[in-house]
Amino acid sequence: MPVVEIRRIGEFEGQEVTLRGWLYNLRESGKILFPLFRDGTGLMQGVVARNSVGDPIFDAVKNLTEESSVIVTGKVRRDERAPGGYELDVTGIKVLQAVPLSDPYPIQRKEHGVDFLMEHRHLWIRSPRQAGVLRVRHEVVRAIRDFFDDRGFVLADAPIFTPAACEGTTTLFGLDYFDEGKAYLTQSGQLYSEATAAALGKVYCFGPTFRAEKSKTRRHLTEFWMVEPEVAFARLEEIMLLAEDLVSFVVARVLERRPAELKLLERDTSRLEAARTPFPRLSYDDAVELLREKGSRIEWGGDFGGPDETLLGEQFDRPVMVHGYPTAIKAFYMETEPKRPEVSRSVDMLAPEGYGEIIGGGERISDYNLLLKRLEEHRLPREAFEWYLDLRRYGSVPHAGFGLGVERTVAWICGIEHIRETIPFPRLIYRIYP
Ligand code: 4AD
Ligand code: MG
Repeated sequence: MPVVEIRRIGEFEGQEVTLRGWLYNLRESGKILFPLFRDGTGLMQGVVARNSVGDPIFDAVKNLTEESSVIVTGKVRRDERAPGGYELDVTGIKVLQAVPLSDPYPIQRKEHGVDFLMEHRHLWIRSPRQAGVLRVRHEVVRAIRDFFDDRGFVLADAPIFTPAACEGTTTLFGLDYFDEGKAYLTQSGQLYSEATAAALGKVYCFGPTFRAEKSKTRRHLTEFWMVEPEVAFARLEEIMLLAEDLVSFVVARVLERRPAELKLLERDTSRLEAARTPFPRLSYDDAVELLREKGSRIEWGGDFGGPDETLLGEQFDRPVMVHGYPTAIKAFYMETEPKRPEVSRSVDMLAPEGYGEIIGGGERISDYNLLLKRLEEHRLPREAFEWYLDLRRYGSVPHAGFGLGVERTVAWICGIEHIRETIPFPRLIYRIYP
């Protein structure tokens, strides 16, 4: 008898198959039981009638408790009304582990508070909604890899232990590193991607990054995944084209391959279908003016707060790219406009519907002396950056890149409120368990 995944059950209509999974729910109607099984790939309803299966099987199913693990055999029958379009006429069941009645599965179908669910994240991910979000996440990651791989980018990953800050010293996680002294968890692989770009041309790194963010917002994790392409000889305009191509590609891929998950999440997909290139571009100067017209108190030189980003994002039906932020509010490595050094050649992509910044990037300083000056202004330790200065000593070229945050992108695509549901085990300022 074939062991079958629920997602492929349609291929086995009329056959007797074996399913391996868990009891998701049990309904009883007269002398018939309707157990709902899940196996990680889908949900499938079984049908068990006492007079056709006999007492032992009927009673075994009747006594099943939620999330007990089981191996079920049965015949696949087409039924329009069933979830997934097929039902299983159960012919046998083996219980691998019965969840005891005295200690039932903690997550019930009633409303639980967020703290309770987060405390039980290891179980919460079994719920169809949470599993659906994680499937979309996988699709997003796969689409990102395909996008870069198909365009000739080389994956060159950056280290996680690093000797210095990349995105500002206030959000660094430090640790003791043997006799080498202090080390830090990486905030971004960018500096290393600049080195690999000079070696390989077009590269990307894709891994976890860490920020000791003191922010308890729905957009911040302390550990998140970022993909960071870096392109030798590219200027700001070129990576803006790359960024919009990437994001529209990823969204289209999820729409195409994960319609069932988006439906389960009740996502309004028409909002996602709008995310086609070209994306609007807005200079920081114009963005400030627009925000002030809409009632924000922002002044030129200030960084956008969450509400400003939300307001800006809401003006467009697709992501918007804001470019040319003040040099003073961006990282030390940002290239500046030749005629306006107070303006950096930077870009942020803001998602619509209030999801805020999903991409940050820009052109990097390629001049040795300017970079040295910036390191000093930012009080960064020169020794830790000697290797980075080397990139400006030996064949320096213009180059640019960006970082896309996976979790914020997934939150937007899924239309979910908080970024904590977009990663299997979120790390937040107030949570490191489980
Ligand atoms: O704008 P950020 O800080 O840019 C960089 O780190 C650059 N070095 C990237 C580059 O040019 N290679 O971060 C990039 C993106 C943000 O737009 C956001 O999507 C995500 O990373 N991000 C976070 N996601 C979740 N939680 C946080 N605390 C995040 N901080 C940044
Ligand atoms: Mg940023």
